[in-house]
Amino acid sequence: MLEHGGKLRAAAMRFGIAHEEWVDLSTGINPRGWPVPTVPPEVWRCLPEAEDGLADAAINYYGSPMILPAAGSQPVIQLLPHLRPACRVGLLSPSYAEHAYAWRGHQLVGLEFNTIDMKLDDLDVLVLCNPNNPTGHRFAPSTLLGWRERLAWRGGWLVVDEAFADATPEISIASHAGLPGLVVLRSMGKFFGLAGARVGFVLAWGALLSRIAEELGPWSVNGPARWVTTRALQDSAWQQTARKNLVIDSTRLADLLKKYKLAPSGATALFQWVISPHAQQLHESLAKQGILTRYFDSPKSVRFGMPCPEKEWLRLETALQKFQDIA
Ligand SMILES: Cc1ncc(COP(=O)(O)O)c(C=O)c1O
Repeated sequence: MLEHGGKLRAAAMRFGIAHEEWVDLSTGINPRGWPVPTVPPEVWRCLPEAEDGLADAAINYYGSPMILPAAGSQPVIQLLPHLRPACRVGLLSPSYAEHAYAWRGHQLVGLEFNTIDMKLDDLDVLVLCNPNNPTGHRFAPSTLLGWRERLAWRGGWLVVDEAFADATPEISIASHAGLPGLVVLRSMGKFFGLAGARVGFVLAWGALLSRIAEELGPWSVNGPARWVTTRALQDSAWQQTARKNLVIDSTRLADLLKKYKLAPSGATALFQWVISPHAQQLHESLAKQGILTRYFDSPKSVRFGMPCPEKEWLRLETALQKFQDIA
């Protein structure tokens, strides 16, 4: 199993700091997620039904009817490699490591952002995150659609993981789902702050969606999670406010990090990413002060999620000051 952010209880044990004392900046989950109301009792009692409104809400939000819900994007990430015979798969590094892990039975081709176009004709599948986690790199929709066309012509796939695209919908190609060879993954965990509900979506052409549906089986997303997701996807007023707030918070976080000579190398609205030769010491120093960040070994870097409420900003600033004093 790979390392991920969000393991607060393990950090509490390792650093001897009580769970409730921690500021968790180790994930890219919106700390001001969609406000979940009380779920009606019958939603807990009844079996989930396909006609419960989730499909319509998702079609409207993502702009394509070629969509299937899943228990997060993770199960689909794990399933896709089993739906093709062994082939050449291009992946970026660093990126969300579960992709490379899932495709490891295939021939993996490591890519740089600027070599993709050159190497594309040697690939059967190209897997990207847009924006990328943790570098924040963004691909223009026109570039992605061009690559999709070149791959699909030979029976290849373009897999675009848009887990962090909700704050910047203009970079999404979800509305193009249905085109041969295009697979788009979406998550309710990040922008909507509903990571615990375990809901995501896969968008693709009909035959692939049918295969995925078959593999996932019935009731793959539970009723309460479907109920909550439907309402979050319908709440466009909340979405607009959240987008504005996240831009403000992300800029504020970048400014704070710059103040302590930790200028970010990349970002999305949900995190800032800092490359530093002292990344490990920074991560450890913050953890000893009860602030959990996500450390990456290659390149040596730390990813910061958004603090919230105000006292978390204060805790972070105090901890950065202390790190600067001892460094
Ligand atoms: C880029 C990216 N894609 C997908 C996932 C999986 O998200 P989920 O299964 O919660 O939808 C993550 C989780 O961290 C991620 O960072």
